Amino acid sequence: MAVTDTPSTTPAAPVFPQDRTCPYDPPAQYPELAARGPVGRMTLYDGREVWAVTGHAEARALLADPRLSSDRKNPSFPVLLPRAEAQAELEFPLIGVDDPEHARQRRMLIPQFGLKRITAMRPAIQAVVDGLIDAMLEQGSGADLVAAFALPVPSMVICRLLGVPYADHDFFEGRSRALLTAPTAEELRAPREELTDYLHRLVDAKEHGRAAADGGLLDELITERLAEGRLDRDELVQMALILLVAGHETTANMISLGTYTLLEHPDQLAALRADPALMAGAVEELLRFLSIADGMVRVALEDIELAGHTIRAGDGVLLPTSVINRDAAVYDHPDALDVRRVARHHVAFGYGVHQCLGQNLARAEMEIALTTLITRIPTLRPALAPDELVVGPGGVVKPGSTLQGLYALPVTW
Ligand code: HEM
Repeated sequence: MAVTDTPSTTPAAPVFPQDRTCPYDPPAQYPELAARGPVGRMTLYDGREVWAVTGHAEARALLADPRLSSDRKNPSFPVLLPRAEAQAELEFPLIGVDDPEHARQRRMLIPQFGLKRITAMRPAIQAVVDGLIDAMLEQGSGADLVAAFALPVPSMVICRLLGVPYADHDFFEGRSRALLTAPTAEELRAPREELTDYLHRLVDAKEHGRAAADGGLLDELITERLAEGRLDRDELVQMALILLVAGHETTANMISLGTYTLLEHPDQLAALRADPALMAGAVEELLRFLSIADGMVRVALEDIELAGHTIRAGDGVLLPTSVINRDAAVYDHPDALDVRRVARHHVAFGYGVHQCLGQNLARAEMEIALTTLITRIPTLRPALAPDELVVGPGGVVKPGSTLQGLYALPVTW
């Protein structure tokens, strides 16, 4: 594997990833990097230097450029973490696949994640959210908002969309988390295999009528694709796995960290309470401001000229969304949370052909969850001790090496 790319031209290439000190702001050294220019260098854990693209225009140009590849099997694909080495062995449909194969896979799923279907799911999402808030209110003041609300909302919703029994949620939530956080390749293997086996058994039961049809995405793909030989079972299972994992942690982090961020910005929260119609825009602003998927990664397949630099074929490219989404050339006062801002064109969901497939769903979940939470529990406030708001043992802030968010959010009302 090529571990050194074009030599560094910057004084010292900061290390990626780093932990956030404030859960909603980028780590201190990332913005320093942006101050040097829209295209710079960062150093990965294995000593390899890669291009770090922090300019908004440059990032969008690259993400739309077919000369960049998402193929994890490419030997030059940058490895962000020791555990990611194991991912090269994984078949990652969609996210780790280039066109035209990627486009073939994505076409199969577009109808289920389109705006029309997701809009039709809104009453069901509202019912899930109401049920969880009823349970919190019944229990009386004091809860961990992650366990009681932020995680079960997307978990119940993705189960329903896929047609996976929510009764098994402890099993697959635990395995999803292990998959995203395993420190080594070895520790990643077991949860991956357990989830794969579980989904194989489920698909088998559905296919042979041992599990009731529920009109979910798995049933649809089994009837329309598997039965007709247009999709093989392994691919179906891997797609279900990626949707199950992607559908959980991402939105859960946005709901919990989004709530915390609003509680920490009382003027913004008051504006939302006064005019709930602002919520759709506030969700975009929170996506921009929080940038929880903070580090997309690619490898160049050909030489690319960008902002006075030459990215060579085989070079790694890193796109830290937390910095790109705070580019002052695009957003006025980018470090301020402003729910009235038109935060369009952020890259929190990525950009180009790999732009998040679940974005309509995530937006609907966030909008309904946050609106209902601040309306039905108007006195909600964090109950975190200041020393809990740290990364590491005893702390609740997730490390820079994972999706950004909170492990727990103690609240009272
Ligand atoms: C707020 C929550 C979410 C955030 C911030 C988020 C973020 C992202 C980002 C940044 C990408 C692009 C990665 C890249 O280009 O390398 C992506 C892709 C993807 N996301 Fe999401 N996501 C969220 C929710 C969801 C949900 C709810 C689902 C599914 C149920 C989902 C499924 C996917 C899939 C399948 C891809 C790969 C698409 C492709 O490669 O064509 N995401 N997401």
